[in-house]
Amino acid sequence: MVNTFNQQFIVIVPAAGVGKRMLAACPKQYLKINNESILVHTVNRLLSHEKVAKIILALSDDDDYFAQTALVNNPDVIRVSGGEERVDSVLSGLRAVDETIFEWVLVHDAARPCVSHHDIDLLIERCLRQNTGGLLAAPVVDTIKQSDNTTAALQVADTIDRSQLWHALTPQMYKTSELKQAIEQAQAQGLAITDESSAIEQAGLPSLLVSASRENIKITRPEDLALAAFYLQQQIKKEDNTCA
Ligand code: CTP
Ligand code: MG
Repeated sequence: MVNTFNQQFIVIVPAAGVGKRMLAACPKQYLKINNESILVHTVNRLLSHEKVAKIILALSDDDDYFAQTALVNNPDVIRVSGGEERVDSVLSGLRAVDETIFEWVLVHDAARPCVSHHDIDLLIERCLRQNTGGLLAAPVVDTIKQSDNTTAALQVADTIDRSQLWHALTPQMYKTSELKQAIEQAQAQGLAITDESSAIEQAGLPSLLVSASRENIKITRPEDLALAAFYLQQQIKKEDNTCA
């Protein structure tokens, strides 16, 4: 076991997206579950973890909603300008991290309010123990089809072996300087980066897969909202059931 006692972490939360696939009237991070926005649920979930000291929130400069949340007065929440793509928002956050204080950084999507403290603990423990960055991930359970989009009517071209396939979740945790360098390098080469792990992979660095709960969904499409509300409700009930 690595002694992580007292070690504090900073979490970058990219929240500058528009939520196109959610088809809502506002950016999806401001949709409400139980009278609280998804963004507030996510940030509170992170800040209530004993090892999380600060949040860097990447927001759009046009964001008209954040000022109405309670987070605006929280000294542990630092606001930075988000960018065109998710990776630009993350890089903007990374540039605000003092590497001399925070050797490691976690990145967590604003659209994932259901992440558990247990899974955050697993990620931190594994990465520190192996001195290697990594990400929460869930094994693919469905049979996976590849489409043949050369035909007019979409048809199956193949069935993919799923035994080595994982869904990449967040948080993802890396050494601050390594992640910043990996993203800058990938951007300079014009490579597509959809998550932190893909930048790290392209830099030839290792990344640990840490098996996590599938409850940690990314709210992406309209039907995800009810599911996230259900998981949040269940998680509160579970806490109520624990013994003193
Ligand atoms: N994000 C960001 N900056 C961007 C794009 C996305 O900070 N330029 C954030 C989103 O706010 C979200 C997270 O990255 O918390 C994951 O992205 P995704 O689920 O794709 O959110 P959106 O890009 O907002 O949704 P969509 O792709 O449907 O438009
Ligand atoms: Mg997106």
